[in-house]
Amino acid sequence: MHTITVDSEDPDREELRPAAEALLGGGLVAFPTETVYGLGALALDPAAAHKIFEAKGRPSDDPLIVHVRPDWDLSGLFLGVSDTIIQLARSHWPGPLTIVATKHPDVPDVVTAGRGTVAVRAPSHPVAAMLLEMVGEPLAAPSANRFSYVSPTLAAHVASDLGEAIDFLVDGGPTPIGIESTIVAVDGDRLSVLRPGSIDLEGVELSLTESKSASPGRMERHYSPRSPTRALAAGVHLESRDAPGVYIGYADSAPPPDGWEFVSLGDRLDLEAVGRRLYGALREVDVSRPSVIVVEYTGRGGLGTAIDDRIRRAAGGQSVY
Ligand code: TXA
Ligand code: MG
Repeated sequence: MHTITVDSEDPDREELRPAAEALLGGGLVAFPTETVYGLGALALDPAAAHKIFEAKGRPSDDPLIVHVRPDWDLSGLFLGVSDTIIQLARSHWPGPLTIVATKHPDVPDVVTAGRGTVAVRAPSHPVAAMLLEMVGEPLAAPSANRFSYVSPTLAAHVASDLGEAIDFLVDGGPTPIGIESTIVAVDGDRLSVLRPGSIDLEGVELSLTESKSASPGRMERHYSPRSPTRALAAGVHLESRDAPGVYIGYADSAPPPDGWEFVSLGDRLDLEAVGRRLYGALREVDVSRPSVIVVEYTGRGGLGTAIDDRIRRAAGGQSVY
């Protein structure tokens, strides 16, 4: 694996060229997006997309998100580009919104895991945007972590998870949002949020489906540390438990029991900062394999809903209370 370090705000095209060429040659390149690092390969080349599953240890029934430039002609990816799709893309792209709709036959089955729908988003991160422009083709890119582990928000996370399995790692520093994109399924003019994220679609007419099968990413025990992890209701005082563990909370959290290590995600009202820190904190804490990691929910709406969704999944749905 070669690492290319770039300026995240103003990447140098020449520095990115070897990575773009590797992608065009069917290789694997990890790069920063505004949400988390992605592991990219040509989406319309089944052999290239297949390599993503091998590198991640990802089951072949878990579909990938296709990344495009915001002005990409969607009629080659979706079968029928409805007004609803156009409106969503126009309002939120480039940005952390993934749109799921009926797929065009040209999208390889390996990308959609054999489903009749495909997930598409246009990232806003300057590095992802420039790579997409240089490659000139859609890129399939799941989060660049080993399957079911915590998503990477730093290049170092990618290197430790995937290291030799990839051709290039583009290091653009910490990812600015830190939580994966909002996923919305479009069926006619009906929208359903499959995964909450920093784009809050609550204002639009939609139903938050609790369907677990609609998106495999809604599975429990996804995005999980290796150490046993439990979620704690917001503002609740953690009672003493058998073995001391690590408590991930906020500046105003009640102190954990004696012997516990406390890690603060900062001010719980500053949800953007909490979102940026969550995955890094989970990975750092997990290194020493504590007997248990307890993570307190933010208990807040908006971005807090997305953060609490990831805390719930990190804990595999298991709460202390
Ligand atoms: O922010 C993000 O979305 C990041 C960056 C790299 O773009 N990507 C990401 O990809 O989170 P991944 O593969 O880790 O998560 C994508 C989720 C998966 O849970 C997958 O099941 C779901 O999207 N998904 C993909 N295609 C789908 C489809 N056709 N229908 C329903 N869910 C789909
Ligand atoms: Mg993922």
